[in-house]
Amino acid sequence: MFKFFKWLFSRKKPLLEYQEQVSSPDGRVVLNTMLKNGQIFYAVYKDGKVLVRDSHLGLNLRGDDPLYNGLMLVRKMDRTMDDTWETMVGEDRMIRNNYNEVALYLSESGGKKRLFTMRFRVFNDGVAFRYEIPPQPEFQRLVVADELTEFRVDTNGYAWHIPAYQPDRYEYNYERSPVYELINSVHTPLTIETPAGYVISLHEAALYNYGSMTVRLNQNDALVSDITPLSDGAKAYVELPFNTPWRVVMIGDTALGLTTNRMILNLNDPPKDDFSWVKPLKFMGIWWAMYVGEWTWAEGPRHGATTEHAKEYIDACKRLGIGGLLVEGWNNGWTGDWLKNGPTNDFTHPVEGFDMEKVASYASKNGIELVGHHETVGYVDNYEKQLEAAYQYYANYNIHYVKPGYAGAWMTIQGRKEYHHSQVGVLHYQKALELASKYQIMLDVHEPIKGTGLERTWPNLLTREGARGQEYEGGALSPSHATILPFTRLLSGGMDYTSGIFDVTNGTKRIATTIARQLAYYVTIYSGMQMAADRPRFYEEVNPEAYQFIRDVPVNWDKTVPILGQIGQYYIVARKDRDSEDWYVGGVTNEEGHRVRLNLDFLGDGIYEAQIYRDSDDAHFRENQLAIEIESRKVGKMDNLDLWMAPGGGFAVRLKKV
Ligand code: NOJ
Repeated sequence: MFKFFKWLFSRKKPLLEYQEQVSSPDGRVVLNTMLKNGQIFYAVYKDGKVLVRDSHLGLNLRGDDPLYNGLMLVRKMDRTMDDTWETMVGEDRMIRNNYNEVALYLSESGGKKRLFTMRFRVFNDGVAFRYEIPPQPEFQRLVVADELTEFRVDTNGYAWHIPAYQPDRYEYNYERSPVYELINSVHTPLTIETPAGYVISLHEAALYNYGSMTVRLNQNDALVSDITPLSDGAKAYVELPFNTPWRVVMIGDTALGLTTNRMILNLNDPPKDDFSWVKPLKFMGIWWAMYVGEWTWAEGPRHGATTEHAKEYIDACKRLGIGGLLVEGWNNGWTGDWLKNGPTNDFTHPVEGFDMEKVASYASKNGIELVGHHETVGYVDNYEKQLEAAYQYYANYNIHYVKPGYAGAWMTIQGRKEYHHSQVGVLHYQKALELASKYQIMLDVHEPIKGTGLERTWPNLLTREGARGQEYEGGALSPSHATILPFTRLLSGGMDYTSGIFDVTNGTKRIATTIARQLAYYVTIYSGMQMAADRPRFYEEVNPEAYQFIRDVPVNWDKTVPILGQIGQYYIVARKDRDSEDWYVGGVTNEEGHRVRLNLDFLGDGIYEAQIYRDSDDAHFRENQLAIEIESRKVGKMDNLDLWMAPGGGFAVRLKKV
């Protein structure tokens, strides 16, 4: 540490005023960093147009002076990175990490002369920065009272937002309004259509040991970070050295351009251990039957998780070509009002009618992976007491996938009510993830912390929920929702949307969809674990020909090519399978129908068999949901496909290399 201080101060004279521009590798994005009157600012430009005007940086500390004023620059370091790395599971096999970096080493000129570093990275598609605070003789720990990071965007831009600090966490419908109306905090990714024409998204990467960032407008008309507080109002208690998560401004020339932004993954570290055991999965579940009221989570005459049902579903997985089966309601703790049973849930004891030994051995005999389930109802105290034993229990039965859930408005941690997204919530999710990796368990986290790219470092974090998914259907979701997600929530990583409902006309959970659209989701909504969420009999009875697409579609992709998209209107994407030469295309539209001429120039050379699943001309998400046309024809990369997406509908195409 002494060497570090010596090096830091080995330059001639600290600078009181300073300004420097750092460009992206392609020169189009420019970051301007400034030290003015002892305060530090940044601004972001693209093609000479300002996207973020001079914005303040700093931290308010509890019981200490803010790290904000009286700053001088003692050193600066530049660096360029150009690296291409391979994902284990993802939307693209290869990802390029290319940026120019500047690190500004700052010191207070008076008082305690505390030090911190602002590290900035400028990518071709955005800017990221974080605060890094080294331990110092009289500065070993701190309590963040407020992070003062501003994002001074044009407030006339239109933001797509969901509210923060609400009981259903991230599960809200997106609204579009001018930035100047964002007086109440909203979650990130916060996607903004700027008056300059670019579409940007504010988010964070590598969220560890800190409250999650929400943003709101301050009195100076700037969006400012609002870190989710702990129950005592503090934002984070940290020991030094400490780095905040990266603050990220993703920039797209268009909304569609934003959808393949990989900054969030790039700002995370490569894995430190061997994760070669991680495998993506398609799975069914003893699950939707509970949602439609056919079965129950709790024991009783209609209990879902019985040994019998599990065996039947395992047989169905085999018939339907699905690799995994989730079983919910298998353990002690569901009886009565399960939302109130969190403090007593038991994760190592099955209920009487469920013989884990028999089910696990039947699954393995049939080559089906069981997906375990832990519903914590947010009672982290109860869960953490059992966590290791709970994973060990599954590992003993050779179960390598778990879906944990944190339903409820709060987490209970050390007897206190805390936000899921507070520092202690973040610490819990991390502890669970790391412990899962020790038992070679992959996770599909429901009611999760939002994605900040940790799956690069922890590839066993295969997917998460973290937005309204299909379980909200039955009136709570409009068709536009799935045309907004790719430009907002999905910028933070994959989502378990629980796709593939064929019983779309069900009286209890009627779904605003056509059947073709259910197929499209497997392509439009990336997830390292994809659920075929309906009951097997609906796949076999409603439309087995349409089901073929769910059987064929892969989970892991080699390459993703966005085709067409307008936020809230429609979204079309093509993805190449990681294990074959085949391509898949999915499209979804809002309440309006949309006709597209799909240009196939993304294909390789040669002939492909296009297996097309599209809405019939008279299909509709309300009246005629099951009307689908399925056809097959030979195509090449010079061809087009004319496709109709009915109101609330969509299409799916498999392009099989001949
Ligand atoms: C909410 C989850 O999102 C859902 O998938 C699960 O079935 C219930 N909690 C019960 O655990």
